Amino acid sequence: MIVDSLSLTDRRSLYPALAHKTYFNYGGQGVLSHQVLAKILENFTHIESIGSFSATANQWIIAETNLLKAAIASEFNVSPETIALTENTTHGCNIALWSYKWQQGDRLLISDCEHPSILAIAKSLQTRFGIAVDYFPVFANADPEVAITTIQQHLQPQTRMVMFSHVCWNTGQVLPLAEIVQVCHDRNVLVAIDAAQSVGVLPLDLAELGVDFYAFTGHKWWNGALGVGGLYVNPQILEISEPTFAGWRSLVYNAPDIQWRPDAQKFEVATSTYPLYGALREAIAQANTYGTQTERYARICELSQYLWQALQEIPTVTCIKKEPPSCGLVSFAIANKSHTQFSQLLETNHKILVRSIPTPDCLRVSLHYLSTTDDIDALITILKTCI
Ligand SMILES: Cc1ncc(COP(=O)(O)O)c(C=O)c1O
Repeated sequence: MIVDSLSLTDRRSLYPALAHKTYFNYGGQGVLSHQVLAKILENFTHIESIGSFSATANQWIIAETNLLKAAIASEFNVSPETIALTENTTHGCNIALWSYKWQQGDRLLISDCEHPSILAIAKSLQTRFGIAVDYFPVFANADPEVAITTIQQHLQPQTRMVMFSHVCWNTGQVLPLAEIVQVCHDRNVLVAIDAAQSVGVLPLDLAELGVDFYAFTGHKWWNGALGVGGLYVNPQILEISEPTFAGWRSLVYNAPDIQWRPDAQKFEVATSTYPLYGALREAIAQANTYGTQTERYARICELSQYLWQALQEIPTVTCIKKEPPSCGLVSFAIANKSHTQFSQLLETNHKILVRSIPTPDCLRVSLHYLSTTDDIDALITILKTCI
């Protein structure tokens, strides 16, 4: 049971996006609170007032950068030096995948549920380096044990890296990361994770998981502003990983020769929208006023179960997962409906915001700890009357 000084209604009233509509698209983009919006304005105003390019501004930027890295690192139980700030998940996935010194004939293993961003990067590596891309099936396998043995079976002597989503964006499947890392590391294979749908949802201890790269964004489940994400890099691989894009931020300042920074900042490039850093920190702090990571995750799972159960009672609806998802994503198909048109109808006629997914062809509802059973009941009522 989450202990909260605010009622859920009062808490939800802090987010303008939650007024007068039913918002189910956190997996696409989260919602900004009044405090986060105020922080954005406050920071832009502050930097103008001190002189945006000045010694004072520079000190402020360094402090803001360090504070955000510390806040993120604390969520993951790792040290701030392991965090590189990026713009979004895809940026971090690119850094991870391009950091390896690929040779012709090497193999990259990814799952059959990856986001188009990962498919794009894999294609680009294939073209550039002549590597082979293999796929392990997770779509058809809901059982975590099966996922582990499936990966084991798909590792080949030339496999150098495995990349997959901790939470699949289309099905809501959660993959057993610690066990997979173990299997891969036993074969000297690196593990890079697309964490777009897990950060802000799953309780995370990256030090314990032992993963090599973990790429995420602040703008989805963490409810931060667009344009700020990050990448965790395991200290054990920091030295052997090479930046592909690099810039002044990647280097030791004023060193006599060109030297990479010894921490994950070697993957950062140049100027960013620094005033947004404090906004993400504010969003993370705000999440932490609402129970622990574990308590928030338990609430998300309860809500997913509630929706999944209610969907079972609608004959024309088929849930993509055969049991309630252990995350905030609930995907389902409606017989004989265009899901794209139906999501449009829900938005236009009922102010219910869900997205359609192309593969598998379905609707995807994202349930945040800010969501309510009233939100879910509203959707179920419409589904029962419209289909
Ligand atoms: C699993 C997954 N990976 C990557 C992305 C792309 O995220 P970003 O825009 O943060 O790069 C998404 C976006 O929805 C996603 O769900």
